[in-house]
Amino acid sequence: MGSFMCITLATLLLGAHSVLGVPTPETISACAEIENALPGKVLTRGLLAVKYAYETQQYWSTTLRYVDPACIVQPVDAVDVSVVIKTLNKYPTVNFATRSGGHDPNVGHATIQDGVLITMTDLTGATYDAKENVAYVKPGGEWNDVIGDLEKSGVAISGGRLGEDTLALLSYIILTNSSAGLVGVGGLLLGGGISFLSAQEGLAADNIIGWETVMANGSIINVDAAARPDLAQAMRGSGGQFGVVTQFKVKVHPIGDVWGGFCIYDQSQEKKLYAALHNFVGHGAEDPKAAIIFSDLVFAAGIKAKLIFYFYDGPERPASGPFADFFNGINLTCLPQKQKYSSLLRANGEPVRLLNARAFFRTYTVPYIASRPQMYAEIRDKLANITTYFLNSPGFVRATQFSVDFQPLPSVIGKISQSKGGNAMGLTASDPDRIILMFQGAWNFAEDDALAYGLARQLTDWLDVVVPQWISEAGLPQDLYLPFFMNDGMGDQAITQSYRDYEKFKALQESVDPNGLFSTRAGGFKY
Ligand SMILES: Cc1cc2nc3c(=O)[nH]c(=O)nc-3n(C[C@H](O)[C@H](O)[C@H](O)COP(=O)(O)OP(=O)(O)OC[C@H]3O[C@@H](n4cnc5c(N)ncnc54)[C@H](O)[C@@H]3O)c2cc1C
Ligand SMILES: *[C@@H]1O[C@H](CO)[C@@H](O)[C@H](O)[C@H]1NC(C)=O
Ligand SMILES: *[C@@H]1O[C@H](CO)[C@@H](O)[C@H](O)[C@H]1NC(C)=O
Ligand SMILES: *[C@@H]1O[C@H](CO)[C@@H](O)[C@H](O)[C@H]1NC(C)=O
Ligand SMILES: *[C@@H]1O[C@H](CO)[C@@H](O)[C@H](O)[C@H]1NC(C)=O
Repeated sequence: MGSFMCITLATLLLGAHSVLGVPTPETISACAEIENALPGKVLTRGLLAVKYAYETQQYWSTTLRYVDPACIVQPVDAVDVSVVIKTLNKYPTVNFATRSGGHDPNVGHATIQDGVLITMTDLTGATYDAKENVAYVKPGGEWNDVIGDLEKSGVAISGGRLGEDTLALLSYIILTNSSAGLVGVGGLLLGGGISFLSAQEGLAADNIIGWETVMANGSIINVDAAARPDLAQAMRGSGGQFGVVTQFKVKVHPIGDVWGGFCIYDQSQEKKLYAALHNFVGHGAEDPKAAIIFSDLVFAAGIKAKLIFYFYDGPERPASGPFADFFNGINLTCLPQKQKYSSLLRANGEPVRLLNARAFFRTYTVPYIASRPQMYAEIRDKLANITTYFLNSPGFVRATQFSVDFQPLPSVIGKISQSKGGNAMGLTASDPDRIILMFQGAWNFAEDDALAYGLARQLTDWLDVVVPQWISEAGLPQDLYLPFFMNDGMGDQAITQSYRDYEKFKALQESVDPNGLFSTRAGGFKY
């Protein structure tokens, strides 16, 4: 409650800047019409608009907390959302956005300056249907709530891993509380979703078999994987371009106690850890119950650290094999233990609450190259080299930390994806082993936004050059399929364009959204 007060006070002060934004008369009319239809569910600006101000702070990156919608709608069900979409159809110049967890750091994806913001604040939680053996999951709230709700029934779904490692350590450095919670549900499930359970169950989205969706024309459709396989495939990794989803029907995975947590290492362990990582990327999926997120962090003064999240779907980790290889070194802090899945997620996520910085994500997909074990160090060195100046600016702290996450995406995931009907990302059984890279940066001032985004682009420009060289030096085929992963993407990256069935999904998107409601008036990755 204390932190809530601080935040709302802060935003009342920041509120001064919202006065600068002027919604158009059409937007004001649209907001008024929605408020009339949904009394008590629409928040607007004002000097003492505490609830409105609180909602504008529910973003993970601080950059997004300065965006002020003309009005914020808090629907309680699909019918409410349908009212909003039908109203928006009457006002073709009014832009809008949908937000679930607010963890996408891209400006204009889940935010809208002077437009209509739909938030999933009142659409949260999960229930288990024992008869059908499926879970019904709402898009709002956080992953540990979803997992906690389902755990009572001994099941889980493939979903967020919460403490996206880098961010956890970041919080040790920047000890300021923020209001943004653990990773969100809706955006993760719509963007694909890498889970600790992925080597067993595929991407998070692969396990969804029904989407209660408000389409562009305002109709509420239950998209059913059995009846509409094309649309279902498209829904698995297209973001919000097909509609606003108000409930997911998801296949479950039985779960008991798990083993996991994170460890922090200094540079002395680097060689051993990179060797273990390389082996895990190529062979880790031989034991699909094991999962890691390997995060390399760089700070000022050349300080480097590694933060690794470990997960094993069982009460005890194996004593040998690629996963066990991580555990014969010296660590600074190590928290893994036997615990409930929800406790693990909470522990992983708790430090993430503390992020208080502007942030970017940028992604890249590289293949596992057996003959290039030095690749991880090369990528980290490049990151360190180009961020040195920014991290070490004299005077005051401009940037606090940069990181690259190495997220193994073994080929077995494609095999599972395909067997479950396929996803938009186009993962299949013939996939190579891959690594999804996520670059992340944290900095303090809006004046440095262009610099920070520019550094991120420099990294992927460099990868555009070196990865084909690495592939050819290794004698691998040049046409390896290496699609980008939406959830870790930066707004300007050609994510959907990297999908093998881009043209097909683009045509499908246009057929269900002929007036471009989602494709031209809402943010997010587009076809
Ligand atoms: C701390 C942290 C941990 C993370 N961990 C993981 C992880 O383990 N695995 C992983 O795959 N990714 C992870 N991510 C990335 C994450 O999946 C994306 O940031 C995702 O977009 C977050 O979902 P959200 O609900 O918070 O999205 P939001 O920021 O609310 O929205 C993201 C996009 O989805 C759209 N959208 C949201 N809800 C809906 C809806 N109901 N209907 C239609 N469109 C909607 C929005 O309009 C926006 O374009 C993590 C991110 C953070 C910050
Ligand atoms: C952060 O918030 C938690 C919970 O509200 C509180 O216990 C803690 O003291 C806060 N930390 C700081 C640095 O403000
Ligand atoms: C971490 O280090 C401690 C002390 O050296 C050791 O006892 C422990 O087993 C290590 N934990 C892991 C998971 O490697
Ligand atoms: C980073 O800088 C060091 C020292 O200047 C250099 O040796 C190394 O090759 C650089 N690495 C990359 C990937 O640019
Ligand atoms: C609304 O759009 C959906 C998806 O294209 C379509 O199935 C449905 O028939 C449309 N409803 C109306 C009333 O036009």
